[in-house]
Amino acid sequence: MLILGAGGFIGSHLVERLLNEGYNVVGIDVSDEKLGTEVLKQIDFFRWDIRNHHSDIQRLISSSDLVVDLIAHANPSIYIKNPLDVISINFFENLFVAETCIRYSKHLIQFSSCEVYGMSGGSDRPFSEEETPLILGPICFHRWIYACGKQFLERIIHAHGLAGELNYTIIRPFNFIGPKFDYLIKDRSAGTPRVFALFLSALLHGTPLYLVDSGSQRRSFTYISDAMNALMIIIRNRDGIFNRQICNIGNPDNETSIANLASLMVRLYVEISGKVCLSEIKPVSGEDFYGRGYQDCDRRIPDIEKLKRCGWKPCVNLVEALRRSMLFYLA
Ligand code: NAD
Ligand code: UGA
Repeated sequence: MLILGAGGFIGSHLVERLLNEGYNVVGIDVSDEKLGTEVLKQIDFFRWDIRNHHSDIQRLISSSDLVVDLIAHANPSIYIKNPLDVISINFFENLFVAETCIRYSKHLIQFSSCEVYGMSGGSDRPFSEEETPLILGPICFHRWIYACGKQFLERIIHAHGLAGELNYTIIRPFNFIGPKFDYLIKDRSAGTPRVFALFLSALLHGTPLYLVDSGSQRRSFTYISDAMNALMIIIRNRDGIFNRQICNIGNPDNETSIANLASLMVRLYVEISGKVCLSEIKPVSGEDFYGRGYQDCDRRIPDIEKLKRCGWKPCVNLVEALRRSMLFYLA
């Protein structure tokens, strides 16, 4: 099985899981830090930038039974700073992978995002793959370039499916968290990872946890082992049930506001480390925190009926998911 983006957060967990289940894995990524030497000994790994290795990648796809594409810029601060890089990697390079899968008749599992749903439009209904409209903001809020690129890729893949040219499964993950998530920072000069890593970094260094636009936005955080169980069901694809399907992976029971996430992480930090928390929780505007062009997804809850019908149910609740994720760094 070929995993593009094998060195990332989700990729590194997937590779470990596949090895435990006896699969042969070929991985590609610009980075291998999250894989570790023991894992690297057991897979064929190529430290490549996808942009510079098209013919090598065509060769690897032609000899794979299944292709999983995770490569992306997946971090809102990059959407604001480098929107063109986001489209270059997340749309054009991923499209090249899809077109190569068409050429060699390979099943593609393409990672998209819950961000394609955009804003809730005031509805509190879970986001359903086939029913929910996709509501993105105006062009001047260029944060939406990520969701737009992912959505256009989904639409092209779907059209190739309709033409009978491509077998695919599109995954829409909802805020997975766990060990090896993004990277920790000492201060903002070292980058802006996603919220769990930012809050944990702040707790470790006694700096503020910033609540963007009051922290009333809501997310459904999903523990990585639950996500991996779902993904393995999709990879096994019994009776072809996930052929030409879009599938949410998320935990609707873990929906919470970002303000509550901050409070929970402060509490768990004190409990796990046994130290006093030196960080304060401070409000900040989206523009001050990310720069001009930021607009937020207000709320997103996954409809997970497709996976439930296959016997999957997420079982790690929010506090436990945070505890396990934080223990990885604090123990
Ligand atoms: P990640 O950043 O950890 O993984 C992406 C990987 O792609 C990284 O290892 C990176 O090095 C690699 N990559 C980027 N550009 C590359 C290039 N030019 N050549 C080769 N490799 C390159 O992010 P993740 O959280 O593991 O996300 C994986 C996928 O899932 C992405 O497509 C992301 O959009 C999607 N996704 C993730 C989440 C989540 O909850 N983590 C949610 C929604 C969507
Ligand atoms: C991200 C990325 O767009 C994608 O990787 C992915 O599609 C999605 O997560 C996901 O993981 O499902 P988002 O949830 O907005 O989207 O990214 P985070 O950086 O984790 O932010 C979550 C929320 O916390 C946002 O409302 C953000 O404004 C807020 N936030 C972030 C803070 O309040 N303070 C911070 O320090 C950082």
